[in-house]
Amino acid sequence: MRRRQFLFLASLPAVATACGSGGSGVEEDAANNALTFSNRLRIPPLAESTTGADGVRRFALTMQRGQAELLPGKPTETWGFNGPLLGPTIRARRGETVRIAVTNQLAETSTVHWHGMRLPARMDGGPHQTIAPGKTWTPQWTIDQPTATSWYHPHPHGGTAQHVYRGLAGLFLVDEPDGPRLPDRYGVDDIPLILQDKRLDEDGSLTGDPLKGTFGILGEHILVNGTYDPFLDVSTERVRFRVLNGSNARMYHVEFADRRKFHVIANDAGLLDAPVEVDRVSLTPGERVEIIVGFAPGEQVVLRTAGGTADIDKGTFNLLKIVAAASLTKSAELPSRLADTRIEVPAGARVRRFRLNGHDAINGNEMDVSRIDEVVPAGAREIWEIENHVYAHNFHIHEVAFKVLEVDGAPPPAYATGLKDTVYVPAKSTVRLAVQFGRHTDPTSPYMYHCHILRHEDSGMMGQFVIVEPGTENQVPRTIVGAGSHGTHD
Ligand code: C2O
Ligand code: CU
Ligand code: CU
Repeated sequence: MRRRQFLFLASLPAVATACGSGGSGVEEDAANNALTFSNRLRIPPLAESTTGADGVRRFALTMQRGQAELLPGKPTETWGFNGPLLGPTIRARRGETVRIAVTNQLAETSTVHWHGMRLPARMDGGPHQTIAPGKTWTPQWTIDQPTATSWYHPHPHGGTAQHVYRGLAGLFLVDEPDGPRLPDRYGVDDIPLILQDKRLDEDGSLTGDPLKGTFGILGEHILVNGTYDPFLDVSTERVRFRVLNGSNARMYHVEFADRRKFHVIANDAGLLDAPVEVDRVSLTPGERVEIIVGFAPGEQVVLRTAGGTADIDKGTFNLLKIVAAASLTKSAELPSRLADTRIEVPAGARVRRFRLNGHDAINGNEMDVSRIDEVVPAGAREIWEIENHVYAHNFHIHEVAFKVLEVDGAPPPAYATGLKDTVYVPAKSTVRLAVQFGRHTDPTSPYMYHCHILRHEDSGMMGQFVIVEPGTENQVPRTIVGAGSHGTHD
């Protein structure tokens, strides 16, 4: 009892400061600034696979319950893939055909969505591809997209916030056989950093309701790869970090405590044209960034997130201490060119407008799994304009890659000019996107677009689009018969 009171009081001043100061970026946080960096950063294992005589590479994921030690000595009930928390990192090459058996050992129906993968809608794992308890769903597709840090997570309609919050998420890395030479030794100079904030009770249990309040949960404990209070030993001159914001609502402004410069090399959907030097990068839920950081022998530096003024980014939190070995292995020079990210939208291209309403609708409509909101011809390049008249949101489109053209009339920062699939839409602003759609057509299986603040997604800030043969846009049904049970496999 005394302990609970102490914790409650201890956390009050931080909250009050954060609200009162308007986010100068220096508010100290109660929980994460008490870090001592005493736990080795967990690195999710690489997923095992077998390749059959048919050349198909097979993976298996099982959604299960378990216990993870987040706070020292206090086991937390969690959910994970092939283990108690998070999931293995799937890594595959462009051109490979993958087949992933996803088994649901939870007591409730879920789905697994491949966020960032460009694939047929029936393989996408959105709300229509439900997996009942005890069942297995086995999507298969051929990877045809550039080098990228994608990820996977549940997407059951109305249940995504809860399923992700309990721990279900993993990375899906795509390599390109003849891409530029970059650090790629997983766990050595190619390190994932999955950032997730949690609210933990004094007994270590996950607490709070991710479907309450304006944004759901903004937790006081920030875990990296599911590790509380982490440190990481590095042994090379340069390290590539793949940073995923896997949080329900929190936005991060990632920087080093000594404000050193580093290079951004990739956004959500692929490498940038060229590396961009920065001293801070911002990420809203669902966004990824790849960075290359240089280290000096024997040094130590803290990675942190700086507080901001967007409601979802309050408080400065330390995230991870990086400890460089006394002697470091030489790293290759950073290439000066990385990729070609152009998306040329033809003159007179279709412009679609999406107005974000409150936290539960787009263009005045709450998500309806049986309604097709938009019909897009295969291979189209279009302008999508997202208008936000209220508080912070973001916007994610399944299947596509896009470039951010403008945020309120101004170009995005240079480090965010690559291919993306999720974009921050600040309060009271309009974002313009050049969107490249794929060529997998299916008039009866939709892809989703939505706010990736999971509380908003779950309460209806989501819509559905289909990709169809050009010329058939007006012939396809706008209603999905039997949606809800549609797509269930066994
Ligand atoms: Cu990361 Cu529709 O999802
Ligand atoms: Cu997605
Ligand atoms: Cu939102």
